[in-house]
Amino acid sequence: MKREVLFYCTSCGHESKKWIGQCPGCGAWNSFAEQPRPPRSRAGTDLRPRAALVPVSEAAVSPAARAATGIDGVDRVLGDGLVAGSLVLLAGEPGIGKSTLFLQVAAAMARPGAPAVYVTGEESAQQVALRARRTGSVGPDVLLLAETSCEAVLEQLRTISCALVVVDSIQTMVVDELDAVAGSVAQVRQVAARFQAWAKTGGVPVVLVGHVTKEGTIAGPKLLEHLVDVVLSLEGEPGHDLRLLRAAKNRFGTVAELALFAMGEHGLEGVLNPSAWLLEDRQAGAPGSAVAVALEGTAPLLVEVQALVAPSALGTPRRVAQGFEGSRLSLLLAVLERHAGLALADRDVYVNLVGGIALSEPALDLAVAAALVSSASDRPLPADLAVFGEIGLLGEVRGVSRAAERVREAAALGFRRVAVAGRDAAAQLVLPAEPIRRVSDLGRLVSREGA
Ligand code: TYD
Ligand code: MG
Repeated sequence: MKREVLFYCTSCGHESKKWIGQCPGCGAWNSFAEQPRPPRSRAGTDLRPRAALVPVSEAAVSPAARAATGIDGVDRVLGDGLVAGSLVLLAGEPGIGKSTLFLQVAAAMARPGAPAVYVTGEESAQQVALRARRTGSVGPDVLLLAETSCEAVLEQLRTISCALVVVDSIQTMVVDELDAVAGSVAQVRQVAARFQAWAKTGGVPVVLVGHVTKEGTIAGPKLLEHLVDVVLSLEGEPGHDLRLLRAAKNRFGTVAELALFAMGEHGLEGVLNPSAWLLEDRQAGAPGSAVAVALEGTAPLLVEVQALVAPSALGTPRRVAQGFEGSRLSLLLAVLERHAGLALADRDVYVNLVGGIALSEPALDLAVAAALVSSASDRPLPADLAVFGEIGLLGEVRGVSRAAERVREAAALGFRRVAVAGRDAAAQLVLPAEPIRRVSDLGRLVSREGA
């Protein structure tokens, strides 16, 4: 029988009968590769029991059985732990701490009689064991399996009953009968399908670790998003200790939760008071510094925004934003020029969210603008002031969601007043609120010397 050959986009998984130069799915060039079609009916998917037709009124609605991982932040982001039989994808850039975090999770979940299995295809058992010692993730119930063959792993898993399986990473696993290299679209799909089938049948949660690169060229996370139940992503800035864990997709809960960890000598540690952690090294009273109250997940988060406005030696001045969207910065600069009379055309502008955190929330606008005005005028904002609000194209400042909670967090951290949109200032707030109706009002904040 002639084997049918298909072409796949190695970037997004788009399939085509013939080779194409540019992928119609994701727009990537020269991303198509020839791959054999995955075997149709022999996959592990056949193990699944056949479903029956059930009236919606009689379908079971009992909450899914969950097991806490024992690591607070991870549980919160998942929505109270791992659901039995669920398939979770943990995505993140290489070196960000994926292996460290889930080795810690494995150690926290493992119990006598219900071990956690850590499959390592990337590092040797010895390397993983060294990391386990360093992070205190040791114990007789964390079982290591250094193996890259999917069948061999599943064979081992059939011999024990366990609480959790971590597969590190999906890109190193292969289904032997498939004539394709590890990490290719066909392999990644088949490996994920087999672990999914095994997870569902055994009722055991399986976590697949997957690398993403900034270019997204390696087949993996993008391809699997629709297949898995939960997509977690671990993020952070190079050179910083702070790591953010969030759910990009969650069939069993919200995607609004966020957990912060700090990478230390002994692995990842939950940051109990993120606002205090982020404000620790703040230079209060320095021109160009403003404290924003953002909302990340469901919790308000105080973060220092720093701005530097300096004369430019270049024909086209530089605009650099770290942790804040560059296009949003351009927009704010245009609004400040037009509506607050700030002359920035021959100035370099740098904006940075301190602590290596990256946020995209409109409520940051007002703090970024305040920091810019403060730096441009070389006058500090009051040290006890926190700021939040969205800025519109007409120079108006707009209210944001959950203002009262934001103000409470600022008060808890010792701030004594807030600068907010008129709507939010008018609401009953805990701290004295400075109404900022237009960006031109920001000058008021920096002009009161020593206030
Ligand atoms: P790792 O978990 O291997 O990342 P990933 O699996 O996402 O590729 O983490 C690697 C980095 O974390 C490495 O640069 C060293 C650092 N690290 C610490 O700082 N402290 C620790 O206790 C551990 C285990 C790692
Ligand atoms: Mg790793």
